[in-house]
Amino acid sequence: MRLILTTVLALGTLALVVPSARADGGENEGGGGGSVTTSTRGPRALHDVSVTVSRPKATPAGMRVRLKVANKGRSAESGVALAIFSDMDPTTPIWEGTTSLRRGQHKDWSLVVTVPEGSGQITATATCGGDAGTGTGTGGTDENPSNNTDTSPVDPGTNGSAASAGADMFLSMCAGCHGSTGSGGTVRESIARESAGDILEAVREGEDGMPRFPGITLQNARDIASYLRNPNAVPTTPPVTPPVTPPVTPPVTPPVTPPVTPPVVTPAPTYAGQVAAIMSANCTSCHSGAGASAKIRLDTLATVRTNALLAEAAMKAGRMPPRGPLSAGTVATFSDWIKGGKK
Ligand code: HEC
Ligand code: HEC
Repeated sequence: MRLILTTVLALGTLALVVPSARADGGENEGGGGGSVTTSTRGPRALHDVSVTVSRPKATPAGMRVRLKVANKGRSAESGVALAIFSDMDPTTPIWEGTTSLRRGQHKDWSLVVTVPEGSGQITATATCGGDAGTGTGTGGTDENPSNNTDTSPVDPGTNGSAASAGADMFLSMCAGCHGSTGSGGTVRESIARESAGDILEAVREGEDGMPRFPGITLQNARDIASYLRNPNAVPTTPPVTPPVTPPVTPPVTPPVTPPVTPPVVTPAPTYAGQVAAIMSANCTSCHSGAGASAKIRLDTLATVRTNALLAEAAMKAGRMPPRGPLSAGTVATFSDWIKGGKK
């Protein structure tokens, strides 16, 4: 699994043959059969960008990393390509960008990225732009590739989003019967070692006192399995709440914000009438498309139907949206939509 550094270096943008630095560096482009050396001593290279990346920190929005890029060469650089990779997939960046740097300039970024579950480390790369470098002094071959990559470990304890999404779901929906780590509450048998597939099957089928949770997706099951395999990895210890038994007829828990919203509408709410607007005002900024947070999409009728129970539980518990709970009326409208058949 840990092929990272060599693979990243092999991506092709970094020159592996380094012409030796020369005092008048301007004409050493192309090497001309120059000697192979990795020396970084001596006069500054014409083209030399460097990158460092900080250890990722878990935040509610994802993993925050700081990227620092510097131009250590004698020339301005435009089109410097930046990327961050996880060792889970050293060929597809989890973040990409480009920048321009004056000579001597450095820039810092604070980024929120999604680090795939199971990552052991992340690697950042910076590459001088293209091979335009005649006369303008931009975009030549980096003469000091030794500082074009930087690697940082990912603490298993902070590899947040997947494990903590799994923790949230498990603690709110399952822990009431299975205990907070899955190894015994009212159910004697431990489920701590169940695979994602077994969990999905159990929640889809339901049997002998195990309720069905039709809204749980394969990704949700993976997150739950990853939480159960290592419950201590999750930084927070949310309180254990009693299980939600599906088809819910809820007494709505009053939210913390001063609420008061219109009373529940008499004809059942519809997606087109109310629910789409609730989702787009509060959820779709994060839960849309391929990059949806927690891989939960809430941007179409079909995806809201699939994830309805999860969404309802998250709203009722005040976990979502992250900026603060929705009014009781809004949550009740959503619950009524579920009860009314998710039309
Ligand atoms: C109302 C109590 C209750 C809740 C809530 C509950 N379970 Fe269960 N679960 C049970 C019982 C009882 C069994 C044992 C069923 C049996 O005899 O096979 C069980 C069994 C299981 C099994 C093992 C199935 C097998 O045959 O190996 C898995 C996996 C499981 N539950 C996962 C979950 C997950 C995930 C959640 C939350 C989304 C959850 N359960 C919520 C009561 C519950
Ligand atoms: C600012 C971004 C953002 C917004 C807005 C947002 N979410 Fe989330 N949501 C996340 C992130 C990040 C996660 C995964 C990490 C976590 O659980 O905190 C998540 C996780 C979830 C989960 C799975 C975990 C859980 O707590 O059950 C559900 C369900 C969910 N969101 C529903 C919603 C709903 C419903 C709304 C709108 C009412 C919403 N989210 C709005 C970012 C957002």
